[in-house]
Amino acid sequence: MPKNYIVGNWKMNQSLEDINSFITIFSESNIKDGNNWIAPQSIHINSLLNSSKETSLKVGSQTVSENDFGAFTGEINSSSLKELGAHFTLVGHSERRTLFNETDSALNAKTKKALDENLIVIFCCGETLEQREENKTEKIVHEQISNGLKEINLKSADQLIVAYEPIWAIGTGKTASPEQAGSVHQSIRNLLNELYPNIGNEMSILYGGSVKPSNINDLLAQTDINGALVGGASLKAESFVELCKAAL
Ligand code: PGA
Repeated sequence: MPKNYIVGNWKMNQSLEDINSFITIFSESNIKDGNNWIAPQSIHINSLLNSSKETSLKVGSQTVSENDFGAFTGEINSSSLKELGAHFTLVGHSERRTLFNETDSALNAKTKKALDENLIVIFCCGETLEQREENKTEKIVHEQISNGLKEINLKSADQLIVAYEPIWAIGTGKTASPEQAGSVHQSIRNLLNELYPNIGNEMSILYGGSVKPSNINDLLAQTDINGALVGGASLKAESFVELCKAAL
């Protein structure tokens, strides 16, 4: 069985003060089980690692460079993330693809580099509203995954998690219906089984796009939805805790 995850993507939000009160409330909730992860702004990775030490939270990055070291102003590399104690990185979030022009081949290189450093990769994919209306969802998502994971061998199902996030559902309050999401997840499962016949059934596929405590249960009820990548509703500890409880 694939594991369930709740991953908070804080994007460019949360002050140090917000983070401290988040950790206080999360600790008080006494959630000891589950895979509950947070990707803060990179500048806050270290302090979140320190303040969350006594909790079950794991901390990761929102993006990573495809390069090792060198003249790449503003970038963060996998080896330094690993050295710091980061557990995972997102790769290919739609905001990185669109706002920062990250291409499939760059995302493939980033994924390889992060896996080489033993960071778990959460590989994101998803279609625009226009692509959905043209019935291209499956084609687009399969291309993003096949190109992004090209020539990547995985030894275990835990090394890489796929996050399906329809772009029209991110930050808009419009969630894909559980059935809409479920059917894309099923087609992603089929693709993962083709790409990784030994472990495809064990790999986790998260849904993202306006996930909140009021819709998480219906989403998780779908066979191939193994948790969520959450933006807005992960910023407040109370709602993050509710999501974590739902995924236990
Ligand atoms: P949202 O963001 O939950 O605010 O829609 C999800 C994401 O971008 O990962």
